[in-house]
Amino acid sequence: MTESQPTPQTVKDDQKVHGVVAEFTDVDSLLAACRRVRDAGYTKADAFTPFPVHGIDTALGIKPTVLPWIALAAGLTGTTIALVMQTWMNGIDYQYIISGKPFISLPAFIPVTFELTILLASFGTFFGMWALNGLPKFSNPMFTSPRFDRATDDTFFLFLDAKDARFDEAGAKALLSELGGEFVEPVVEDETSKVIPKGLLIGLATIIFLSFIPALAVLRMRVTKSGSPRFHIFPDMDFSPSKDAQQTTTLFADGRAMRPDVPGTVRRGDLDWDVNFKTGIDMEQLATIDAPRAAQLVALQDDVAVDEEDEVAEADAASEESAPAADETGDNTPWLTKNPLELSDEVLARGQQQFNIYCSVCHGMNGRGNGLVNRRAQKILATTWTPPSNMHDPTLYADVYPDGKLFSTITNGIRKMPGYASQIKAKDRWAVVAYVRALQASQNASLEDVPEGKRSEIEKEQADVQAQLKAAEEATADSAEESGEASSE
Ligand code: HEC
Repeated sequence: MTESQPTPQTVKDDQKVHGVVAEFTDVDSLLAACRRVRDAGYTKADAFTPFPVHGIDTALGIKPTVLPWIALAAGLTGTTIALVMQTWMNGIDYQYIISGKPFISLPAFIPVTFELTILLASFGTFFGMWALNGLPKFSNPMFTSPRFDRATDDTFFLFLDAKDARFDEAGAKALLSELGGEFVEPVVEDETSKVIPKGLLIGLATIIFLSFIPALAVLRMRVTKSGSPRFHIFPDMDFSPSKDAQQTTTLFADGRAMRPDVPGTVRRGDLDWDVNFKTGIDMEQLATIDAPRAAQLVALQDDVAVDEEDEVAEADAASEESAPAADETGDNTPWLTKNPLELSDEVLARGQQQFNIYCSVCHGMNGRGNGLVNRRAQKILATTWTPPSNMHDPTLYADVYPDGKLFSTITNGIRKMPGYASQIKAKDRWAVVAYVRALQASQNASLEDVPEGKRSEIEKEQADVQAQLKAAEEATADSAEESGEASSE
């Protein structure tokens, strides 16, 4: 320390002493001095070194930092806030089923809880560190010492604070020199002006003032009305020219946004489906007998293509229409006598499937009218029950009950039986018609109906089939009994 000899710090009368500082040239002497200072009972001492020195905090008797505890407390606060918030929001205030989870579902709460824990723990650590270090601090009295710059270079400083209960300037100086400290000097409080420069103040005030402008502008926009279009930085698809139902448009001459069907067009799949197909009636012939009814039916069919609600109305109207038609004597409707579908195994299989789904519950799988619903009705002796018709009644055979009429019965229902137009498509209804005919034939066939080559086969099998039928009937009777027992229990 011979090369530079700055004037030693002298304390003027009006200056306050902040503490006493001494210089050391190596780590070992600093650490030894620190221990001695600690053992002498000083608690407010500090060391300044160019690099971190291991063990210096124990040498100075500095207690471990409480920062981890602050971080823990802040983290737990975050955990609690997250759990309480989610329990209140999801479980109590606004119950809403999400993915079928319970309203209060801990696993679902974990992500938010984790995030809030981490967030508050980081805040606690960051701001806790600032608070414990007394930051922000713009000036430290140590900076008034002209030699102190070397703390970042090659010199170790040991400082005794005047706030320490044991501090007296002369004693502190003596102790530090005794410990081998060089340039033992008092540190005076920083007496430079604490007044903030005017220019800085004005600049800060201006920035703060300007920062309010966007917020004020937004606030004003929220409470006032304006005739001019709002800011639209990203219009996205907000200005789509598409129209809703019943709106007007200048695009078309009639001013309507909804367009009527283009005359002469046919719905996809409707090409082969004429009115006959949909009603089971030969319309051309009906027009000659009963023109108004034919016109009405045609109009109703057209509506069906547009609106489903009309379909119901149509079904009602049509069933009203066909109600007198069901009357054996007065029915002069020219029903289609031939199924418009091309008969094939596929059509029959489809018809069987649809019949088994929709009809068998009442009419039974075999069409004899003893489906499960009927059996149940008999069992509970339902007084208002009308038994479903037996498909094998000769009055329902094709010669007296044409295919078109059967189609109409399925479509519109009849008397106690509901219509199935809304559940079974027209094409499938015709398939059911075909299957009902097959059913009827199956129960009323003679050997002559079978192709010649297969007749002997049939005769052979007949015995087996008879036996099987018997067994099946017994089985169904048994199961009926069982189900009856079950329901009466
Ligand atoms: C909810 C039970 C039920 C279902 C399902 C049902 N029907 Fe009926 N069906 C009846 C009843 C009941 C009658 C007798 C109505 C009456 O006489 O009042 C009947 C009568 C009939 C008749 C005779 C009509 C006439 O003019 O005498 C036919 C044919 C018929 N059903 C076919 C079908 C077909 C095909 C299906 C399947 C699409 C079907 N039913 C589905 C209950 C049902």
